[in-house]
Amino acid sequence: MLENTEDFWSESWMNHIEDYLDATPRAGIFIKNYFKDINSVLEVAGGSCRDSRYLANNGYKATGSDFDDKTLKYLKEVKFPNDKLNYSKENAFDLSFNDDKFDLIFHNGFFIYFDNNESLNTMLKEQERVAKKYIVIFVHNKENKKLVKQFKELSQNDDLYKIRFFDKDEIKEIVVESGIKYKEIKILKFGGFFDAFYKKRVKKLPNVLYPFRKMIVPKLYQLQKWENVERICCIVELDK
Ligand SMILES: C[S@@+](CC[C@H](N)C(=O)[O-])C[C@H]1O[C@@H](n2cnc3c(N)ncnc32)[C@H](O)[C@@H]1O
Repeated sequence: MLENTEDFWSESWMNHIEDYLDATPRAGIFIKNYFKDINSVLEVAGGSCRDSRYLANNGYKATGSDFDDKTLKYLKEVKFPNDKLNYSKENAFDLSFNDDKFDLIFHNGFFIYFDNNESLNTMLKEQERVAKKYIVIFVHNKENKKLVKQFKELSQNDDLYKIRFFDKDEIKEIVVESGIKYKEIKILKFGGFFDAFYKKRVKKLPNVLYPFRKMIVPKLYQLQKWENVERICCIVELDK
């Protein structure tokens, strides 16, 4: 596991931020199409804040947060000076917001940097305090052996790839053990082969389907075997 400090991330983002910003905001696309009863959204540990920016540009009251202030400043002041997204420097263990401030809190590729469940429990409790309706967690899928191997190789040269993988039962158990009060926990498959459909006009996708791809791709993910799925999406509906 890497040394998860603000300094590590400020430096690491200098090498990675443009690639992250170029990628499809697929978590934002999924949230927009899946949830019909939300207006306000907080992204925790947002890094590039690509997904919360997508939501801000699509009419949500969205806040992108991270504990790495340097990267937030770069995004806000240099890259996107006219951004509709609100930015906030936040430590995920101790959020500055009032109770029930956001309808939904999400994070994508964040819990993967913690190998002890105690930290995850503490952060989940804090998210339960600040979220009114949902917490949505995206983590890398342990059952995808090809992905695990690829990350192991990449981690030889770059600590960003030193991550913890989860299986679907494990992430569900962590949520249950945290003690947060929920109505339902749903596990969905997220990412994989069908992401190719997000690219401009791929041959695999009949032209007539192209305008609907943002609705279709998250549904197509569900057709994959777990061994081919990239990430697990864990949706916690809170009981408040
Ligand atoms: C892999 S990145 C997330 C990438 C992001 N989903 C994106 O699309 O750009 C992990 C992020 O977690 C942030 N982070 C790590 N520990 C944190 C903490 N305790 N509180 C808030 N952010 C934290 C890092 O600064 C980093 O930006």
